[in-house]
Formats: sequence, C-alpha cells, structure tokens
Amino acid sequence: MKHTITLIPGDGIGPEVSSAVVRIIEASGAEVQWETHYAGAQALEKFGNTLPEDLLESIKRNKVALKGPITTPVGKGFTSVNVGLRKALDLYANLRPVRALPNVPARYPELDLVVVRENTEDLYAGIEHVVVPGVVESIKIITEKASTRIARYAFEYARREGRRKVTCAHKANIMKLSDGLFLECFRNVSKDYPEIEADDKIVDNACMQLVMRPEQFDIMLLENLYGDIVSDLCAGLVGGLGLVPGANIGEQGAVFEAVHGSAPDIAGQGIANPTALLQSGILMLRHLGERGPADRIEQSMLKVFTEGRVRTRDIGGTASTYEFADAIIAQMAQQGGAAA
Ligand code: NAI
Repeated sequence: MKHTITLIPGDGIGPEVSSAVVRIIEASGAEVQWETHYAGAQALEKFGNTLPEDLLESIKRNKVALKGPITTPVGKGFTSVNVGLRKALDLYANLRPVRALPNVPARYPELDLVVVRENTEDLYAGIEHVVVPGVVESIKIITEKASTRIARYAFEYARREGRRKVTCAHKANIMKLSDGLFLECFRNVSKDYPEIEADDKIVDNACMQLVMRPEQFDIMLLENLYGDIVSDLCAGLVGGLGLVPGANIGEQGAVFEAVHGSAPDIAGQGIANPTALLQSGILMLRHLGERGPADRIEQSMLKVFTEGRVRTRDIGGTASTYEFADAIIAQMAQQGGAAA
C-alpha cells in the first residue's frame, strides 16, 4: 500500500531542497505518493491564510508530512507558521538527531546525540503584549502535563533506541517555578526508567560543556526555547545547519523538517544543501516502516559523502543541489535495488 505524504515545499530554498529530496525518495523504491500544500506567504497570497485548513486536514488524514523551511517575518507580519503547525496538530515532541557525516568538516566527527525539545509551550508560545508604551510582557507557560509528556517521550525514545542517558538542561536556579516544574516532572518520570541514567545541568553550563566535551551527552531534554537554541548549537558541532534533520511528533501526526530556515541569502541559486531535509526524509521513511528504502538512501548518501567528490558549497564543494541529488540517485542505482 502506498503511503500518502503531505508535502509542504516551503519558501526560499525550500522548493529547491524539497524537490531534490522528493526525487531521491522516489528513486529509492519507497511506496509513497505526495499531496502538495502551501503554507506561509505563498498560502497567504493564494488563500488569505498562512496555515490553510486544507493543509491541516491533509496532515491529519495522512498522519505524516515532509516540510521545507518557511520564512517568518521578523518583528512584524504574520506569526510563525512553524509554531502554528506544531500547535494546531499538537506536535509536542521535537526530535533532532545530531550526527557528523563522513568527510564533512566538523568539530566533533564522532558525536552522536539527540536533542528532544518540548514543542508546544514556554516563552516560545509567543504570548506577548504591550503593557504600556515602551514596556512589553512575554509570558512563559510551563505545565505539568506537557513537561511530563515530553520527559516520557525522551525516556521511551531512549529505551527504544538503546540510548544510555537523558540529560535535562534547565534554568531552575533562576526560574524556580517554571523550570523547577519542568525539572521535577523529568525527575518523576525518570523513576520509571531505572536502566537509563538521568541527570540535569543548568542550561548555560550545558552549552559550555557541549562545546568542550559534547561526548558526555546522549539525549538532551529541553524546554522549547532552550531546545531551539541548543539544537542549532549542536548542528554547529557536526558541520552546520545544512546537515541536521528534525521531526515534530504528536498523536495526530508527524511533520519531518530540516533544522535550518529558508536561507533567503542563497535562495533561487540552486546551491542549497538538501542533506538536512533528506535526513529528515530518511527519518520519515523509517517512521512509515519503509526501512529498505530508508537504508538504501542513507547508505548511498554516506557513500557520496565518503567519496567526497560531489558536495555542495556550504561544506566546501562546488556541486549544485540538483547534482548532489543526482549523485545519490546514481549511487542507489549502482548499489542495485533502486527504482532509478
Ligand atoms: P537560515 O537557517 O535560513 O540560514 C542561516 C545560514 O545558514 C544562512 O547563511 C544560510 O545560507 C545557511 N543555510 C541554511 N540552510 C542551508 C542549506 N540547506 N544549505 C546551505 N546553507 C544553508 O536562518 P535565518 O537566516 O536565521 O532564517 C531565515 C528565515 O527562515 C527566517 O524567516 C526564519 O524565521 C525562517 N526559519 C524557518 C525555519 C523552519 O521553517 N523550520 C527554521 C529556522 C528559521
């Protein structure tokens, strides 16, 4: 049976990287078909809404989406589509595996950690208002329900994937109530997983430790805003934003996306690195049970990186997005079993 996937090409480099990834997935022999939907500025222009109901219905029906990055105007204009999507579908767990790729300049080539970020609340919920002119208030919401749910997700993931430790990073020394509650929920949930080590660090120290001795971390559990920042920091440890995948997971569905944004500085030039979205696509195929095609793509991608002849500019090469995708497709065909 074919899986139907909601495809959101996105803005900026989104259409370039998503068409490369669609071509690779189709060449892998995966049993998939696509339902394309627009969000953000494109949807606003076409349908008068940045997050059209049709798009949400499509994800609820298909239970899975692959999403390119979407531009969010800074300081004015519409609110973040990414945040809206996560809220509308209650995609409460943001998963970001961080692993270096062969032959890609990285500070920590051996690093292999996973960032689990709470995705629905915290300061990131964007609840802000002007108290009086010149004074604004931004509200940080942390609930026992969401904190317990995400902690459980992290420990379940650790158990399923054979990981050894979950580290909660927080600022409970200063935000005693909000971060204190997040930490308390983490500690409570950890008691149900005695085989998995549970520890915690204050987030500023955790950042320094990440830069100096990242191998001490295995799974990191963070609130929404810290998780957003720390996951980009982790991407930097293994070679940059063009490489790292991400998934937003909830009961109603899962949206797989790259960690990077729409990169307006290089949009339209055909030079973006599609690896991050491709790795998200690999996570998506595994989530769908399409393990054969996922492994085939991953092995071919790793081979292309190992050979090092075809690489995009952000990692020191000259290849275009299209040429890089072609190299992976050719590699799959060479390995046999691909439908290229
Ligand atoms: P960005 O991630 O778009 O770009 C940061 C830097 O990384 C730029 O120099 C860019 O050229 C480079 N870069 C990013 N992805 C790349 C790739 N695949 N290949 C090669 N180079 C790559 O971050 P920025 O500039 O802060 O944000 C631009 C827009 O993207 C904003 O509107 C922001 O709101 C949005 N955004 C969307 C996200 C999403 O849809 N999930 C996530 C982050 C930002």
